[in-house]
Amino acid sequence: MGTTESDRTGGCPVHDIHQFDMYDPAYVAAIFDVFAAMHAEGPVTRAEPYGGWWIITGHDEVFAAARDHRTFSRQTEFPTHRFTRDGQEFPPNPASAIMLRTLISLDPPAHKPVRVALNPHFTPAAIAPYEPNIRAYANELIDSFSERGSCDAWLDFAQPLAHVVIFAELLHCPVERLADLWAIIENLPPNANGHTVDDLLEAMAEFVTDFVLWRKEQPPLGDVIDTLLATEINGQPLSLDVVIANVVLILAAGVETTGSVIATALDFLGRNTELRAQLAADPALLEQACEELLRLFGSVQLQPRTVMQDTELGGQQLKRGDRVLLAYGAASRDPKLYECPEEFRLERDTKSHVAFGLGAHRCIGSNIARLEFRVALEEWLRRIPVYELGAGHVYRRKIDHIHGPVALPLTFPASTRETAAPAGVAR
Ligand code: HEM
Repeated sequence: MGTTESDRTGGCPVHDIHQFDMYDPAYVAAIFDVFAAMHAEGPVTRAEPYGGWWIITGHDEVFAAARDHRTFSRQTEFPTHRFTRDGQEFPPNPASAIMLRTLISLDPPAHKPVRVALNPHFTPAAIAPYEPNIRAYANELIDSFSERGSCDAWLDFAQPLAHVVIFAELLHCPVERLADLWAIIENLPPNANGHTVDDLLEAMAEFVTDFVLWRKEQPPLGDVIDTLLATEINGQPLSLDVVIANVVLILAAGVETTGSVIATALDFLGRNTELRAQLAADPALLEQACEELLRLFGSVQLQPRTVMQDTELGGQQLKRGDRVLLAYGAASRDPKLYECPEEFRLERDTKSHVAFGLGAHRCIGSNIARLEFRVALEEWLRRIPVYELGAGHVYRRKIDHIHGPVALPLTFPASTRETAAPAGVAR
């Protein structure tokens, strides 16, 4: 028997899948029901907002499109960066242009030089040495609230852990500098749906510019920053703007994504206490549990592409210039591939899930994400095997396509600290 996922959506919503709007909180809250309704209709669904999009939900169809960059170009933007809901085009936004300078916005072969240069920093062997520090950061964060018996598992644990792993371990940014980034983000004007993507990207770019300029003056460490500064294309070094944009991409793609998966898993385990007790009693099960959680709740639900030549996919005729969303979150729940896809099943074969995407743009950070996710759950369940979810859980779309909690209050039996000298990781 599997474990049924949370009932947070409150049953099947009455949503018109052809009006699917990735920016509407009601659709976001019901995203998995929406995907299930799309699966029932076919592997490729037409949605009308923002000038019209094809939403590709079938696993086979996502597999085909993500690996065919000649037909499905990644050199594109998310809908609201260029269009209003009723399809009117905005003038280009300079902040969105940051992402257009990065490797995620280039098709092969232009995508290749930066990707090949960065790959060695993301292999399992390169990432394995992070493990003791990730464990130490997780424990330091738990120490910051263990005696209190309560915390917000997103704000106090998953989010700061995800930040420090990328900043301190991958980018070698001194932990003290993190406070500057918190200050920049906290001073952004909030809107109803959190900070806008453009505000966040601009704030990150400001922080990253200072950091990269500082790193240029320091002795090289042979890390991602030094590699970007040394990478050449056709004999020309990457411009500073391109270096900065790619660091912003790594932050935007690596922090909220992994933090969101950790917090979503803690929410899920808060509702499924038998499974939680089983995993706490036998941490060796966590590696497989994390894969099944990634299949169910991978935080990157949708990614954009543009059709470059007329083609047929999933019984639909797509025309050159049409815009497409690859629904990775739906493909990992395709009922053609997974029996009762909405159920958590520890024994399930998860190797075909696409939480990290496919093709040229397949997630470069998957080894970091997997390690961080497993270690975070190992340490959390070792220290806090029993907890109660509080009221106030908020799940929503964050940076464009990233989904997860923005508040996850919970309580647990208070316990003593384990570490004496905090390194300043907690917010
Ligand atoms: C659970 C956590 C994560 C999830 C679910 C996730 C998911 C994804 C997905 C689905 C893509 C493919 C995008 C596409 O097809 O258009 C992607 C790309 C990418 N991810 Fe991740 N990611 C995660 C963590 C990370 C981490 C930790 C990093 C960096 C440290 C990272 C950096 C990137 C980058 C740079 C790309 C673009 C790669 C390219 O264009 O070649 N991600 N990610």
